[in-house]
Amino acid sequence: MQEFFTEYKTFIVFFHVISAVVWVGGMIAMRYAAHASFMEIESPAKRLERIAHALKRLFTIVLPFVIILLLTAVVMIKGYSLSQSEFSALSHAKEGIWSVMFINLIVMMKRRNRAQVMLAEGDFAGAKGQLEPIGKFMVPLNIVLGISAIFIGTYFSSHL
Ligand code: HEM
Repeated sequence: MQEFFTEYKTFIVFFHVISAVVWVGGMIAMRYAAHASFMEIESPAKRLERIAHALKRLFTIVLPFVIILLLTAVVMIKGYSLSQSEFSALSHAKEGIWSVMFINLIVMMKRRNRAQVMLAEGDFAGAKGQLEPIGKFMVPLNIVLGISAIFIGTYFSSHL
């Protein structure tokens, strides 16, 4: 694994960084650009429908990058022998952050799917209940965690 890492380091770090850009950047754009615009739609049914649709597209786009982020992280853990180094605590912190972000993403996907079914059944209050926490708490939480992981990554890149 170490030889593989040395040979392809530039590409591995590139895929790691671009994955973080798409995941964290996608959430910021959705929450603070698209969401603000959706709120201008007067019809609650149409508004919820647009939010559910946009979230579906966001989650579909980010999911492959979430997996690439983890795969490149595993290669770097082995390649830099992070677990046996003075950086092991920070490496575990990043693993923990990724895990919480991933679980949060899966829960958001499940809530969105439930909202989609409720919208089809005309249960707008139920759909709102499913979607509201995504915008209010769950996406902002993942943005904060993602930014923390990027900060630790910056520390790594200047110390490793
Ligand atoms: C799963 C556990 C993770 C591990 C073990 C890990 C490990 C690393 C390492 C070793 C570097 C330095 C690469 C180098 O310069 O050679 C790095 C950089 C980076 N990481 Fe992670 N990472 C993880 C998760 C994440 C997550 C969840 C994000 C954001 C969502 C992230 C975003 C970044 C970014 C943006 C950089 C580049 C920073 C820079 O070059 O200044 N990482 N990571």
